[in-house]
Amino acid sequence: MSNTSTPRIGFLGLGALGTLIAWHNRALQPLALPRQPQSITPRRLIDRDGIAHDFDLPSWDGTDLDWLIVTTKAGDTLTALTPWQAQLPAVKRIVLLQNGMGQHEQCASWLQQQKSACELWAAISTEGAYRSSSGDRPEVVYAGSGSTLLGKLHPQDTIEPAVVPLPAGFSLCDDIQQPMREKLAINAVINPLTGLYLCPNGELLQQPEYRQHLLQLAGEVDAFFAHQQWPLAAPLTERAVAVATATAANRSSTLQDILAGRPTELAWICGYLLQCADEAGYSLPITAKLYQQLQTDSVR
Ligand SMILES: NC(=O)c1ccc[n+]([C@@H]2O[C@H](COP(=O)([O-])OP(=O)(O)OC[C@H]3O[C@@H](n4cnc5c(N)ncnc54)[C@H](OP(=O)(O)O)[C@@H]3O)[C@@H](O)[C@H]2O)c1
Repeated sequence: MSNTSTPRIGFLGLGALGTLIAWHNRALQPLALPRQPQSITPRRLIDRDGIAHDFDLPSWDGTDLDWLIVTTKAGDTLTALTPWQAQLPAVKRIVLLQNGMGQHEQCASWLQQQKSACELWAAISTEGAYRSSSGDRPEVVYAGSGSTLLGKLHPQDTIEPAVVPLPAGFSLCDDIQQPMREKLAINAVINPLTGLYLCPNGELLQQPEYRQHLLQLAGEVDAFFAHQQWPLAAPLTERAVAVATATAANRSSTLQDILAGRPTELAWICGYLLQCADEAGYSLPITAKLYQQLQTDSVR
């Protein structure tokens, strides 16, 4: 780690969320780990007032990094990290800032195989951003402000906040698995259903058939979380109704991915839950049917 209180930060996956987080950290002169060799990565962020901000991220030169923030989609994590394998000894901490679960453990195993001393952290964000059609440089719209929590992957690992200079906009969380699971639970209800019915979140409550499906699915996921002793702050049926109401006009990331013909992250949401259920000898028939229905060539 560098000795100053100014952390050196690199970004791998400068899409919607990565560009937004890099912009929050622009005073720290963040670096890019681009897919193709290039000296700078130009980005434009349209802020909440509609004002455009152009900024350039110089490419990482392989010197010490305090944080490498990975903001690819969950399924691209290892493909994105692998080309940088030889430079990883210069990285103190990798942070996976992504939705979904399962990729963290995969990454931990991969780091272990590399005999890497790099610490693995996880972060979860309620910020919202999307990529827009670009003019002369790739453009990201800041759609909704939120918070970003950061913690070591395994809660038993101690954190010494005083000696860890955090990236801007991040707050330390003692047990990051808890907010990750809260997000997993809600995503396991809203995302596949909006993908199945190809509708915005609020429509899941308006159509009686969709609403019934939402309540049954939320009940199934809630019961599985209880079985796994993964406590949720509120019953998932209530929470799913509240989230669908509060975000009625929003299109879930799964719906956006399906409409754009991109792979979804459902393997890291429903697929992860089904794998945990299988290991626990537990059955999730509604989730399994939905996941199967949504398994197309574009779904990993
Ligand atoms: N967007 C949000 O509001 C938001 C909010 C909370 C959480 N999240 C989560 O954050 C993660 C990222 O989401 P996003 O919306 O930012 O996705 P995104 O816009 O698709 O960005 C992903 C970025 O990763 C890049 N990438 C993929 N493979 C790569 C590789 N091998 N090497 C280097 N870069 C690579 C992509 O590059 P290309 O453009 O070249 O494909 C893209 O720029 C997801 O897990 C998502 O669920 C997003």
